[in-house]
Amino acid sequence: MSEWLDKIGAAPSLTALDELRVAALGKSGAITARLKSLGAMDAETRTREAPAIHAEREAVTAAIAERKAALEAAELERRLATERLDLSLPAATTPRGTIHPVAQVMDELTEIFADLGFAVAEGPEIEDEWHNFTALNMPEAHPARAMQDTFYVAPGSGSGAGGDTGRVLRTHTSPVQIRTMMAGSPPIRIIAPGRVYRSDSDATHTPMFHQIEGLVIDRAIHMGHLKWTLETFLKAFFERDDVVLRLRPSYFPFTEPSAEVDVGWSMEKGRRVVGGCEGWMEVLGSGMVHPRVIAACGLDPEEWQGFAFGTGVDRLAMLKYGMDDLRAFFDGDLRWLKHYGFGFLDVPTLSGGVGA
Ligand code: DAH
Repeated sequence: MSEWLDKIGAAPSLTALDELRVAALGKSGAITARLKSLGAMDAETRTREAPAIHAEREAVTAAIAERKAALEAAELERRLATERLDLSLPAATTPRGTIHPVAQVMDELTEIFADLGFAVAEGPEIEDEWHNFTALNMPEAHPARAMQDTFYVAPGSGSGAGGDTGRVLRTHTSPVQIRTMMAGSPPIRIIAPGRVYRSDSDATHTPMFHQIEGLVIDRAIHMGHLKWTLETFLKAFFERDDVVLRLRPSYFPFTEPSAEVDVGWSMEKGRRVVGGCEGWMEVLGSGMVHPRVIAACGLDPEEWQGFAFGTGVDRLAMLKYGMDDLRAFFDGDLRWLKHYGFGFLDVPTLSGGVGA
């Protein structure tokens, strides 16, 4: 028995140790053979011999486990000592990934609005109907709910925002207005970029796309503030001073009055670009936050008012960088990403030009 224990204690490697385990305890191992021989003994001999054999098997099993742990610990020590990584060394290969235009545009928008004093707010993509609709002045059975092709989340699946009603994949970033007003107190100046979902799919619609929401709540806010903010933002974003805006009366349940915002476009090198004024195209929805929305968030609409706006980030990216098929945004085609993507060092800054 001590012979096994000595050998196990001296096993130089995990492989050598495993060979010993097989030789002692394997199917045709020495100790296994002795265990098997118990069957052929008469009762008296067996009673005498059995305890020693079982004890040997236990001692050898324990010794193997102990040696295994010691060899593994030594191996780890050796690897920790030899496989050192110097993280301060320069990268061995040139990075080949690119920043997706949506990420780039979101960074550009964040940079522009941060300069105007806006913070970035977030909300859940699985949203409850109260935040997505009801609090935004779209009560149940309101026709506006049918305007958005909502993805409903089956009751009881996953964990989402909860609330008094069912859950949906948020159809717009507007519920972040509600969450921000309920979580903090005015004055509020936020933008909320993020993913939104609608059951819709063609060359200009994908089931998931990106929006950015803006919200300002303070005392004595009026539409002049809205127009100035949008004009300043669009000029900075498109990097042109000749961006002209047109506010057109419109309807959104959560704003009163509501305005759709068009920008002037002109043809340059055979392509329609923002700036100048050969024609108009719609880029934003906006308006003065409806008093009912402010009240739903527990604020007094007599004291607090503000404006909100929302627009599609993917569309802004297409207008600025000239892609024409939205679906390509989400195909993950490396050739497209290489062509339209941005270098990871092209961090947008106002001083360097947000276009990077
Ligand atoms: N939530 C609207 C949509 O998805 C966009 C929008 C319009 C947002 C007007 C606003 C707003 O904040 O004031 O289509």
